[in-house]
Amino acid sequence: MNPYFNALVSDYISEKEVKKSIEQRTIDSLPPNDALIEVHYSALNYKDTLSANGHRGITRNYPHTPGIDAAGVIAECSSGKFKEGDEVLVTGYDLGMNTSGGFAEYIRVPSEWVVPLPSGISPKEAMIYGTAGFTAATAILEFQENGIKPESGKVLVNGATGGVGTMAIAMLAKLGYEVTAASGKPEQTDYLKKLGAAEVIHRNEIYDETRKPLLAKRWIAALDNVGGNTLSTLLRSMSENGVVCNCGMVESTEFSVNVFPFILRAVRLIGIASADTAMQRRLEIWSKIFGEYRLGKYNFNIKEVALNDIIAEIDKMAKGKQVGRILVKIK
Ligand SMILES: NC(=O)c1ccc[n+]([C@@H]2O[C@H](COP(=O)([O-])OP(=O)(O)OC[C@H]3O[C@@H](n4cnc5c(N)ncnc54)[C@H](OP(=O)(O)O)[C@@H]3O)[C@@H](O)[C@H]2O)c1
Repeated sequence: MNPYFNALVSDYISEKEVKKSIEQRTIDSLPPNDALIEVHYSALNYKDTLSANGHRGITRNYPHTPGIDAAGVIAECSSGKFKEGDEVLVTGYDLGMNTSGGFAEYIRVPSEWVVPLPSGISPKEAMIYGTAGFTAATAILEFQENGIKPESGKVLVNGATGGVGTMAIAMLAKLGYEVTAASGKPEQTDYLKKLGAAEVIHRNEIYDETRKPLLAKRWIAALDNVGGNTLSTLLRSMSENGVVCNCGMVESTEFSVNVFPFILRAVRLIGIASADTAMQRRLEIWSKIFGEYRLGKYNFNIKEVALNDIIAEIDKMAKGKQVGRILVKIK
């Protein structure tokens, strides 16, 4: 095996400067885990932009190779759990955070993190979903398990043009839910409708500053990618027994809310932490993605880029300017 491989490397120079470049690394420099994987595809997520740009809450030590998603084939597995050539995916856990990540031709991870691909699912299809699809699917499964049916009412998805938002709208629409997409990009209204949204609103419409304890009932379920006052607004705008899944914080990590949505409308707030999903639940969610939630056709933008072009895409996502999924073809 060639001892060298190409990888994105982020180097923390100072608080104001993080250098990103494509470099040659050696297999020996990978962490000493039991499963060496030749990466064929990765995908870009918001968390990758934080890691790549020196966010110490995500990645403590630099130089570092980001990439929280990877799919490809087993090159070596010393534990015997997988054999050479098995097609697999890895998302979350510590991949791309403090473990060398998927924006590279190889990763080496504990085999406990590795999910086998079912036959008929390619590494490319797995990465079209990636962490974004897995996160959206986790929320949808929570909605279903909490009794939210297509006929229950409208479902709100914000951060609509982003990775998680895109996947959530497409999957919910496929399952027959009536989806309202909230976006800061009015020029993407037609795109979001094509994706499956029944209605598109501006994100300002779910940003209430009155601080009223409760607002008019609008949604039976919501997938919140943004946190902050938007999450507070959503909680106060839910119908009785409404379910809000929060997974993100692009607006803010802080939010304030009174107890009335909970004690007067029995609203439930569920946290989504996809990276640390236990393997049994993880396999259940992937089987939903490759089964009931699988999208026969993709009505969303999929931009496929080479590893050499990833830096510009990271910078664009960090500015909130991406629309749809960025797929990284590694091999
Ligand atoms: N908890 C988990 O397991 C988990 C897993 C995956 C992702 N996440 C988190 O979920 C969030 C979305 O991830 P992603 O990968 O989909 O990111 P992304 O592709 O960058 O999408 C984020 C979207 O949020 C909207 N947005 C940007 N700035 C905003 C602001 N200031 N206020 C309100 N909306 C804003 C934009 O959509 P519009 O212009 O259409 O509004 C943007 O496209 C991130 O916070 C990420 O860290 C969490």
